[in-house]
Amino acid sequence: MAETTIITGHVLSFVAQPFDVNIADAAKFHEAVAITGGHVAALGTVADLTRRFPHAACVDHPGKLVMAGFVDAHAHYPQTAIIASWGKRLIDWLNSYTFPEEMRFGDPAYAAEIAARHLDLTARNGTTTICSFCTTHPASVDAYFTEAQARGQRIIAGKTCMDRNAPDGLRDTAQSAYDDSKALLDRWHGVDRLTYAITPRFSPTSTPDQLDALGSLWAQHPDCPMQTHLSEQTDEIEWVMGMFPEARDYLDTYERHGLLRPGGLYGHAIHLEPRERDRLREVGAAVVHCPTSNTFIGSGLFDMGRRKAEGQIVGLATDTGGGSSFSMLRTMAAAYEIGQLTGTPLHAAQLLWLATQGSAEALRMGGVIGNLAPGADADVVVLDLASTPAIAQRTARADDLWEAVFPTIMMGDDRAVSEVWIGGVRQFFDA
Ligand code: GUN
Ligand code: ZN
Repeated sequence: MAETTIITGHVLSFVAQPFDVNIADAAKFHEAVAITGGHVAALGTVADLTRRFPHAACVDHPGKLVMAGFVDAHAHYPQTAIIASWGKRLIDWLNSYTFPEEMRFGDPAYAAEIAARHLDLTARNGTTTICSFCTTHPASVDAYFTEAQARGQRIIAGKTCMDRNAPDGLRDTAQSAYDDSKALLDRWHGVDRLTYAITPRFSPTSTPDQLDALGSLWAQHPDCPMQTHLSEQTDEIEWVMGMFPEARDYLDTYERHGLLRPGGLYGHAIHLEPRERDRLREVGAAVVHCPTSNTFIGSGLFDMGRRKAEGQIVGLATDTGGGSSFSMLRTMAAAYEIGQLTGTPLHAAQLLWLATQGSAEALRMGGVIGNLAPGADADVVVLDLASTPAIAQRTARADDLWEAVFPTIMMGDDRAVSEVWIGGVRQFFDA
């Protein structure tokens, strides 16, 4: 029989969306969680769980927050080494920093090095699942999946497809994008904890033929996610509309090529037209908010309050290296700040939900990851709520647990991450 471990602390579990019901009705705290064979077995009191699992090992984290590992719903692992590159807006930033770096991923050894570095950096920050773009090179996809598989980690990733407006060496064709994506999907999708995502970078770098080809691939594999970018900057939108004069709006450049379905993940989606907002909701497609990227590249303010009030599925993500941090704590802080600028102060419970269950639901993996509930994967992060003197002195003043958690969201970094469990396996401990 598989061994059981009981982790104690302030164990957070969501039973509803904290956007739909009161925080107290959505978020429950337990004394302990039991994990068996890579899955959550039960939540309860210490007495209850030690009675049910008398031979379990116990790992105690008094005063710490024990919760599902963070789920980063949109990242570019190949941009790890160019994070925090100065002074450009989107299209210039892609041409100056991103494309030259992505050219290097034809070299499998370089791809393997950066894949490992990205998974190290994100795990150290408490992220246990990532949905990432790779580069146009199939080797970049093999490298990322190989590394994640060796770690027993749940990863969603795909070959980025681009057949125009990108330099030689980074362009594929409509046919090769289809063939390579299909071969990678057949090799990796559903193997262990790996999921293949069909990945057109965005409309400006794909011809209508390539969008069509990827639309048919998705129609053949509707259980796969499809990830892309949508309406990130206003000059990008103008560029897209000039390139697709027949399209009703930016979303329509995907829709008319079979690239709008449930399972679609549209990164950024800041400057949406009313029709786009309605269609995304009707279809049940997800948008992914990337707040540190939106401020860093100067893209604009995503209106989380309105999107959630309308019932839009929203994930949360770093978007590294357009995003300026590998940390989902820093990402939640930026989401809070953008919420303030758009008139919605997000509660700590809403931020933690977005960074876990919100992203999981966007990925159609709710119930599997992003929440500590019986049967879910045992991906766990343990957060020290007093990890620096500045945070500790504020936490000491807190009147309740949520007030104690919020300073770590706003000011915490990898020092707040005491422990991470991936698939029930403990990764590292306090120094
Ligand atoms: N739009 C198309 N490609 C990218 C990218 O790599 N990063 C961001 N932030 N936006 C994009
Ligand atoms: Zn992106």
